[in-house]
Parts: sequence; C-alpha cells; structure tokens
Amino acid sequence: MVLEKNIEIEPKSKLLSWYYLNKRDLPWRETSDPWLILLSEIILQQTQVSRGLQYWIRISTRFPTPKAMATSDVEELLSLWQGAGYYARARRLHALSVLVSKRKSDGGYDGEIPSSVDELLKLPGIGPYTASAVASIAFGVPTPVVDGNVKRVSSRILAIESPSTNTLRTWAGSMLDPKRAGDSNQALMELGAIVCRPKSPKCELCPMTRWCLGIENPESYPSKKKTRRLTEELDAAVLIDPYGRPFLTKREDNGRFGGMWGPPMNDIDTTSMLNVGKITHELSHRKLIVSVWTGDCATGTDPKTVPISNLDRKILDMAFAI
Ligand code: ADE
Repeated sequence: MVLEKNIEIEPKSKLLSWYYLNKRDLPWRETSDPWLILLSEIILQQTQVSRGLQYWIRISTRFPTPKAMATSDVEELLSLWQGAGYYARARRLHALSVLVSKRKSDGGYDGEIPSSVDELLKLPGIGPYTASAVASIAFGVPTPVVDGNVKRVSSRILAIESPSTNTLRTWAGSMLDPKRAGDSNQALMELGAIVCRPKSPKCELCPMTRWCLGIENPESYPSKKKTRRLTEELDAAVLIDPYGRPFLTKREDNGRFGGMWGPPMNDIDTTSMLNVGKITHELSHRKLIVSVWTGDCATGTDPKTVPISNLDRKILDMAFAI
C-alpha cells in the first residue's frame, strides 16, 4: 500500500492488469488468425457479445478462411446470419471475402487480410472502428478504437456529456499501450461492457475510479441523444398454397432485409385478403408497424429452405396461427 502512494501508477497499466484478471474467455481471443478476428468484429458491430458468440462459432466453423466463404453462395451466409439482423453486414462480409480471395494481380489480397488501417478501410463493410479493431487485435498496430463502450467510459472518466470524436480518439490513444495495442483496446471495451455499463455501473469494481471525474453521477454521461425514431406503417401479404407453404420473395439487395426472403410487403392489394393483426418491430432508426394479411396462392416456398429475418418469421407465425 505504501508502494501505491509513492509510485505513480498509470491508468493504462491499471486498466491492462484489470483486463488480464477479469476478461471474459471468448474464442476469438484465443486465436491470432486475422480472418477469425475480423469475423468477430463484424459480428459484434451491432450484436452483443453474448448473442454474437453463437453466430461466430457457426460462421467460423463453416467458413474457416476467406476462400471458403468466397466460394460459397451469399445465401448460405445469410442463412447462418438469420436472427442477427442488419443483414447488409452479412452481404458486405461475403463481398469482402470475395475481394480478399482474389489474386493481387486482379486487385485482391491473395486470401490474406491486410494489416494496415488504410488497406482495411478499403474493404466492404469495414469502417474506422472495425479497421482499427482488426489492425490492433490481429496485427498489433497501435491505433485506438472508439466504439459505444469506449465512448461511455471516456465521457464518464472525463465528465464530458458529449465528447467530440477528436476528444474520444485522443483519450483512447492516451490509454493505448503501444506494445499491447489489441489488449489495450479490448480492455477499454471490456470495461465498458462489464463494469462501466450504461445502467447501474459497477463503480465498486472499477480500476479507474481514482481518475474518474464522473464518479458522483456516472449515468448522466454521456448525455442521451434524443432520437426521434420514425414510424412506418406497412402491409404484409402471407399467401398460402394448397400445401400450406407461404408465397415468399427475395428482398431487393439494396433495400431493408436485402437478400433475405419474406412475404410481399410492397404494392399489396388487400381487398380480398383477411387481416390477422399487427406486429410492431423496432429497428435502429425506425419503428415498423406491419399489418398482416392472409390469402391464397398457387405455389409457395418452404420457409426452412431460405434465409428469413426475425420480423418476417414473426409475420409468418402470426398468419399461420389463425
Ligand atoms: N466489442 C467489439 N469487439 C470487442 C472485443 N474485441 N472485446 C470486447 N468487446 C468488444
């Protein structure tokens, strides 16, 4: 204890020691394979670690290399991705695997994930967060990451309600141990995920309290953005064939749920259909209210054979429950 008083312990070494003692055992932390690390970061972009884990296991088992994914149909990846949402992520990941697998002479990467932030940023679906995460975790490049967790931790420690991107990157950079870039970045994210949580943070377990200016009122940082989510009302037509199969179409690649299959939702003439109820579904920027209709058709598709989003599954379940 006397030692602690005399020696200035740096916040970043305190954070790293905390991380080594408290980090969750996650399979992508046991590998140095850049492809498997990239897969984890793409999956975790909008999915919590606990849910992302099962998707990572399924997808990395089926596609252990970029080549394995590049030589498969995108629909197979969409099937493995079912239920995770943000299906454009899966389609971009497939496009990434195709580009990476191309020969260098054809503008590709000979099947190797590039190691620099600038090269990673050229790949489909890779933004600044994922590029820095992969470069630091898989290749040890000393570049800070700023995700939602890091934003929350830093705005609390600095007691700033709305820190600018610049402030966030500078602060995350000051916490980076250049010799352990991947672990430093993951330590900050881990602290945000398991201690400095959005609600009821566990300050009593936090290694950073002596530097934390927001400790008296952590939940007031960062200030909550008032997001006015637009509401959209839609109709869905579940037309059922004589074998009990619904008529399904593949959604346009560039639209919502692109590449996934589902009942028609555009330009539906509901005059001869039966209304069976409404489903409310929250997306990141929109709230959807879907009126579900049923009717007959000549030929449908077995829903087990095509990738279907959670919303479309709910729609089908409602129509089949009557
Ligand atoms: N969120 C996204 N990537 C993460 C990682 N590698 N560790 C902890 N949380 C994360």
